[in-house]
Amino acid sequence: MNKMVNKIIASKGDVVIREIENSDLQLLAKYANNPKVAINLRDAFPNPYTMDDAIRFKEAVDMQNPKSIYAIDYKGEYVGNISLSPGTDVYRKSAEIGYFIGEPFWNMGIMSKAVDLITEWGFKTLDIVRIYTGVFEFNKASQRVLEKCGFSKEAVFRKSICKYDLIYDEIRYAKIKE
Ligand SMILES: CC(C)(COP(=O)(O)OP(=O)(O)OC[C@H]1O[C@@H](n2cnc3c(N)ncnc32)[C@H](O)[C@@H]1OP(=O)(O)O)[C@@H](O)C(=O)NCCC(=O)NCCS
Repeated sequence: MNKMVNKIIASKGDVVIREIENSDLQLLAKYANNPKVAINLRDAFPNPYTMDDAIRFKEAVDMQNPKSIYAIDYKGEYVGNISLSPGTDVYRKSAEIGYFIGEPFWNMGIMSKAVDLITEWGFKTLDIVRIYTGVFEFNKASQRVLEKCGFSKEAVFRKSICKYDLIYDEIRYAKIKE
């Protein structure tokens, strides 16, 4: 039996969402160290991304209780991260979703499956009614993922993003618990 079986939170076919292991960190550093990934994410995501960044990230994840960040596993191999972070105060019934996957695995339908899985898991196990995120205007692949997963485009936050000193719109998406 898979030794990580207790750490799996959701799975469908070849795509598994599970806790991040120390053995993932080398691949995390490899896939995260890609400007084509970083340009789509907040500046808190290091660029370049080193093994030290991966180790620091795992230390922060280890401190979380409950955890909000997980690994995406495809055919038994670490391929990326996905997070579902509940809000606080009046936003405590909402959670923000975030994700990235290594470039070798783009456009294979993996993230659409992972988003479906964590959304279903979140609505079932967390006390939330809304899952949302913001996507930079140029990130058409992520917008397509959210649309495929039944998220609704709710708003355009005009000129709200400053990435590498350029200004962009942010497209906001959300899915409501049925
Ligand atoms: C965005 C990202 C998560 C997509 O993951 P993925 O596993 O490739 O997604 P999927 O294969 O499930 O779906 C991608 C969809 O976008 C489409 N797509 C890809 N590039 C596109 C583009 N330039 N314009 C329009 N659609 C595009 C694909 O054709 C596919 O749609 P389809 O199934 O209808 O053909 C991945 O590219 C990534 O990690 N990017 C860097 C980090 C990032 O952007 N994170 C999200 C921040 S909001």
